[in-house]
Amino acid sequence: MEMENKWLIEAFKGTVPDGFRGKVGWASPSNIALVKYWGKRGKQIPQNPSISFTLSECRSETFVAYEKAETFGFRFFFDGKENPAFGAKIEKFLLDYQAFFPFVNQLNLMVESRNTFPHSSGIASSASSMSAFVMGLIEIETMLVGPSTGLGTLDLCKASYFSRLASGSAARSVFPKMALWGATPYYEGSSDEYAVSLENDIHPVFKTYHDSILIVSGETKSVSSRAGHALMEGNPYAPARYAQANENIKNLLAALTTGDSDTFINITESEALQLHALMMCSNPSYILMKPNTLNLISEIRRFREETKIPLCFTLDAGPNVHLLYPEKEADRVVDFIQSVLVTYCNEGRWIADNVGDGPKKLL
Ligand code: PMV
Repeated sequence: MEMENKWLIEAFKGTVPDGFRGKVGWASPSNIALVKYWGKRGKQIPQNPSISFTLSECRSETFVAYEKAETFGFRFFFDGKENPAFGAKIEKFLLDYQAFFPFVNQLNLMVESRNTFPHSSGIASSASSMSAFVMGLIEIETMLVGPSTGLGTLDLCKASYFSRLASGSAARSVFPKMALWGATPYYEGSSDEYAVSLENDIHPVFKTYHDSILIVSGETKSVSSRAGHALMEGNPYAPARYAQANENIKNLLAALTTGDSDTFINITESEALQLHALMMCSNPSYILMKPNTLNLISEIRRFREETKIPLCFTLDAGPNVHLLYPEKEADRVVDFIQSVLVTYCNEGRWIADNVGDGPKKLL
């Protein structure tokens, strides 16, 4: 809890100056986990460490207009329309953690957000949208504390900490390329409270990886991630899962450093299947994969066997398949997607994404 104290002490507790008004804007990406975070305790503390690729094309773009006011005011617009349901989540976050951001009680905030990926793509937007909002909030605070000169002055550790409190996996979205969230003896400086960047620890091949997201269904999930995490509490396999995840972290960290694609593939696919296996043996049990998820998996494995191209799949908490592969194989894999895999996609839809550079300042 060292960080909590540091940020409580450092929080701007002064009077917001008269005439303080303006607008900040941040684009922040989604991320795809390789070792999955599934199960939590306390205030968004993960039961095991996780590692993800930061994406590039799937982003939220969030603008926060602020103005000095007598009392706290808040409105939230999504895609140009007021959206009180989503706004309530951000407002609750601000109220729950107002000790860290007491200055918001002297501000009127108007948030406008949009996603670069379609609403019906089944891609969760909480990691990108919450991290984009937190980047804006911290930039406003930075302006109150001292002059802002953009990203360089924003404390990414702090952004990760508060993104985590807003939505667990969002902690990993604020770093370029790859991030590790959760304390592990295999990485010095790792923490349950915030993610750390792996950018300087990974082989160059992973810095330009592609993630082609094959849309099997755009429907809203029947069981939310929040409910899924909660069901891990009674899951008899939970202790074995957490031990296995720690082992996978150790081996994946080593493979990321050396560029060992066989180990990368083995761990990534096993993690995806384990995540869904945990759902199937929760009580009540549930299944988020669809028949075409399995069809895609077998086509991908068959293609890898035949061509020896080191591509592999992972899954999020949903039916869509993330196809991961190195940049140099992109032409052949895209041909494969277009000639075979699109048949199993909902209306032939897929999203071409790749490893990205983290949040970008828009204003
Ligand atoms: O951050 P949450 O609460 O939406 O949970 C994310 C869970 C997974 O996406 C399935 C795994 C992960 O590590 O991102």
